Amino acid sequence: MKAVRIYQYGGPEVLRYEGDVPAPVIGADTVLIKSVATSVNPIDWKIRSGARQKDFPLELPAILGRDISGEVIAVGSEVRGFKPGDRVIALARATYADIVAVPGSLVTHLPDGVDQIDAAAIPLVSLTGDQLVREATKVVAGQTILVSGALGSVGRAAVHTAMKLGAKVIVGVRARQLGEAESLGASSAVALDDEDALARLEAVDGVADTVGGEIAAKLLRKVRAGGRFGYVSMLPEDAAGEAAVEVSRVFTRPDPSKLREFADDVRDGSFALPISRHMPLRDAAAAHELLERGGGGKIVLTM
Ligand SMILES: NC(=O)c1ccc[n+]([C@@H]2O[C@H](COP(=O)([O-])OP(=O)(O)OC[C@H]3O[C@@H](n4cnc5c(N)ncnc54)[C@H](OP(=O)(O)O)[C@@H]3O)[C@@H](O)[C@H]2O)c1
Repeated sequence: MKAVRIYQYGGPEVLRYEGDVPAPVIGADTVLIKSVATSVNPIDWKIRSGARQKDFPLELPAILGRDISGEVIAVGSEVRGFKPGDRVIALARATYADIVAVPGSLVTHLPDGVDQIDAAAIPLVSLTGDQLVREATKVVAGQTILVSGALGSVGRAAVHTAMKLGAKVIVGVRARQLGEAESLGASSAVALDDEDALARLEAVDGVADTVGGEIAAKLLRKVRAGGRFGYVSMLPEDAAGEAAVEVSRVFTRPDPSKLREFADDVRDGSFALPISRHMPLRDAAAAHELLERGGGGKIVLTM
């Protein structure tokens, strides 16, 4: 099969496109998927660089990637509910390849009407945004939540979930993104790089942070006593907020039924993940360069 592998940690150049990688063997509990597309996520370059070796140790050579959208080509003997030809998506592993074996319990059908290529953007970011809001901030209807990096992919999913829950959503973006942020349909927006605007912001019940660093440290201080602060990136070691604020980090788990809900919402037009670029799998190194630079939007890799 075709795949992009790394043989060592390092810069984008360690991503090697190869045309003759042994295909995965189907297990009794797995579904073999002919991939149509995957996407690149910030965690991919952090793993590739070696920065996240502790949390995500790799056996080299390794295939990176978490998202897959494709067509079932074979079904393990213990898997029910799938047949060859089904259109599916999943949060999986080793998805920078045109054939991927995924545990059947993690796969979900892609509804008709959702573009098979762009669906590769959905799994990791949607489940992350959803778990960040539901499990880390635990906001309920009527409460106020601030989502930082709201125009990013995880941020959009977090905003979508918070709105579905009936929360009052404040989107945190860069000052130059305030106009674009109106399209998110939130209650209000705040420029995270505007100290005065941040100072005027009243305490919120919860923060869903997708930016990390100093922005996260500032937002932690905006959570009311008894509120919750959830994050997915990094918090500075000395970040300190109200002692009574519950702080938790999300490590995304697969959840195929929730993934199907997001795909349904894409079909219905109530949720969108804009794709900034489509690139062929063989250009994974160039995609990582863009990804690492930041600000480039969502990139989908096609097979
Ligand atoms: N823990 C987990 O399991 C998990 C899972 C998935 C993702 N993550 C992490 O979640 C984070 C977001 O991922 P993503 O896929 O959503 O990335 P993304 O699409 O690039 O979104 C990040 C957003 O944050 C904005 N941003 C960055 N720095 C900012 C700043 N200083 N002030 C205001 N806005 C800022 C970006 O704006 P610009 O585009 O203008 O820079 C962008 O809109 C990444 O760190 C990723 O590693 C963690």
